[in-house]
Amino acid sequence: MEFTWNRHHILALSDWISQEYDAVLQTASSFREVLSRRTKKVPALQGQVVTNLFFEPSTRTRSSFELAAKRLSADILNFSPGSSSLTKGETILDTAKTYLAMGTDIMVIRHQQAGVPNAIAQEMDRLNTGVSVFNAGDGQHEHPSQGLLDLFTITSLLDPENPRLELLKGKKIAIVGDILHSRVARSNIWSLTASGAEVHLAGPPTLVPKLFGEMGNSSGAGKLVLHWDIEPALQDADFVMTLRLQKERMTAHLLPSLREYHQRYGITRDRLKLCHKDVKVLHPGPVNRGVEIDSDLMDDPALSLISEQVTNGVAVRMALLYLIGNLKN
Ligand code: NCD
Repeated sequence: MEFTWNRHHILALSDWISQEYDAVLQTASSFREVLSRRTKKVPALQGQVVTNLFFEPSTRTRSSFELAAKRLSADILNFSPGSSSLTKGETILDTAKTYLAMGTDIMVIRHQQAGVPNAIAQEMDRLNTGVSVFNAGDGQHEHPSQGLLDLFTITSLLDPENPRLELLKGKKIAIVGDILHSRVARSNIWSLTASGAEVHLAGPPTLVPKLFGEMGNSSGAGKLVLHWDIEPALQDADFVMTLRLQKERMTAHLLPSLREYHQRYGITRDRLKLCHKDVKVLHPGPVNRGVEIDSDLMDDPALSLISEQVTNGVAVRMALLYLIGNLKN
């Protein structure tokens, strides 16, 4: 059956269907090819304005959206709260409306509070603006473009010519570390369970609460299993995703010490011996070297997909901007 893309905002992966994932994977695959050419720019979003509204620090995501928009020939505006009128008392919604008045077509929003991108999207719809909103990470809720670039990185490793969701059926993926505070883990849980993968979450009980056992997309028949020891999660795993300990979000005392955390849950070469022989390691960054992962391991291209994730992030964000931008033409 022919599938037509009609999603106007990218806010969360919780309600995505398999055809949407496949549309993004296929489109990203063509853009990765474009990015390998000498001339890396296409005119797809010429005349459209993409505005980055990042209320929280970011290196990769912000630059990746910026480069993706530039490669599609859009005009890009960058907002930083520190040097803005927010310091003069302007509300977030008024900031968004200011950029709307400048002709913004797509707003990319990161905020420390869950729900802010949704609220702005609702207001944009209520005002009939036609503006699309991208969630670039909201509190502990979701980070959909990161979930999609992780999915693209894994599936295009399994089939570089034709990355697609079904390649993950039956694969074992371990997500290790600070699941509690991680919007990346939440978005990955939605996409990976939708693919039919077996997702194993591992970390200390304070960072992997039982509640997570109830998450996941039931349509893909994927499995979600929780572990408070790392070994059963790593056993025969095809992919290991490790996450940063988000100390800035830890209000209570959730960890004994970083040294002890590394001893019990750190990803090391020794521990990876438990996994499938072709195992690959992912990390969304930023990394606490030597805490969640051994420093030399993250730099080993035979095992680590970390740089690949960053490179693929541009192609995936180009795909998302393209699919949404096309709805406006
Ligand atoms: C993550 C984020 O900000 O959610 N990083 C990213 O976007 N690549 C993860 C983190 O902050 O640890």
